[in-house]
Amino acid sequence: VPLDRYNTFGLPCVARRYAEIITPAQLSELARAGEFGSRSPLILGGGSNLLLPAELDDIVLKISIRGRELIGSDDDHHFVRAGAGENWHDFVRWTLDMGWPGLENLSLIPGTVGAAPVQNIGAYGLEMCERMLMLETVDLRSGARVTMDFDACRFGYRDSLFKHEGAGRFAITAVTFRLPKRWTPLTRYLDVAKELAARGIIDPTPLDVSDAIIAIRLRKLPDPEKIGNAGSFFKNPVVSASLHDALLARFPAIPAHRQFDGSMKLAAGWLIEQAGWKGRDLGPVGMFEGQALVMVNRGGATRLDVQKLAETVQADVLDKFGVRLEIEPVQP
Ligand code: FAD
Ligand code: EPU
Repeated sequence: VPLDRYNTFGLPCVARRYAEIITPAQLSELARAGEFGSRSPLILGGGSNLLLPAELDDIVLKISIRGRELIGSDDDHHFVRAGAGENWHDFVRWTLDMGWPGLENLSLIPGTVGAAPVQNIGAYGLEMCERMLMLETVDLRSGARVTMDFDACRFGYRDSLFKHEGAGRFAITAVTFRLPKRWTPLTRYLDVAKELAARGIIDPTPLDVSDAIIAIRLRKLPDPEKIGNAGSFFKNPVVSASLHDALLARFPAIPAHRQFDGSMKLAAGWLIEQAGWKGRDLGPVGMFEGQALVMVNRGGATRLDVQKLAETVQADVLDKFGVRLEIEPVQP
């Protein structure tokens, strides 16, 4: 089965076996029938955070489990559950239409609900884990249904259990969100505050915040329908306060955000731009002219082309700043 159209970067990939999953029971049956053996299947959502190899020997499980509903509430929250195969952005907009705000800062992130916990998607001052109550999985080794709460998922910045021991083992089938009844807008991210001000909005509604973020993203990020990409190609590096001080002395304009533990998160896009890679290509791939952190496929790229540019950019940034950039998308 060709997967070229199932990954937004547009890398050519052929999978030996492919199954579309519409119920959790199907996953349990496959597991109990020993379909997976000792191998890890590739669990596929929308393919917007994947760098695929040319061939995949393991089975690909395309998660298409649907459904979304309000399952309860308490004094302070609505609890809303969605199937893993639901489109993330459509789900976010639906919650806003239903009057259950809280996810609007994560508007227009591509992909599915089930993939959102995998890298704990984040944008514009919010991470998904801040709104998650629990999730449901099938353990592909045993076929058992396993639910996990916030702690079990071991969330971090662009990180979770599902990128480590849980990768290829737990298929997420549904996620339940915990949305605040007493909503206040999250507008501390400068771009968001500026966009709202430019629109003359002082007291934004959830929909105003969503619309402002959609506009910012459409301006900055390449549309995967037109130009292949997987969003940010590297994570923003977190460095010690002392390394940050040393960098600040040499590069007074360096953007950085203090973390709760005192470490500093740098902007990889800025580092890449300063290293001369913004809008520059190497073979059929390049770092995007509108946002240097996004690697784009100008057409016909292979995983080797991606690797070469990644290594070159990493080497140049390491050379100039002494900081090692870590690749963000998953590489099965
Ligand atoms: P896929 O790419 O299909 O899979 C990603 C990983 O999750 C793989 O390891 C896969 O095996 C695993 N996975 C998928 N579904 C499941 C499941 N049901 N159970 C278990 N594992 C599963 N990310 C951000 O955090 N913030 C952003 O602002 C952002 N902006 C982006 C902008 C663009 C233009 C693009 C192309 C990407 C962006 N991303 C961003 C990355 C991407 O949208 C997210 O990582 C998204 O959650 C991926 O969803 P997906 O369904 O496409 O996952
Ligand atoms: N910058 C540059 N040059 C560039 C790009 C960025 O100087 O080419 C500077 C900006 O001026 C700004 C800083 O870097 O000072 C941060 O840039 P931006 O606000 O665009 O965000 P980012 O840090 O590059 C992160 C996430 C995005 C998310 C945005 C908004 C990561 C790896 N990326 O990008 O997530 O949408 O913030 O919150 O954390 C993704 O994960 O795929 C993704 C797109």
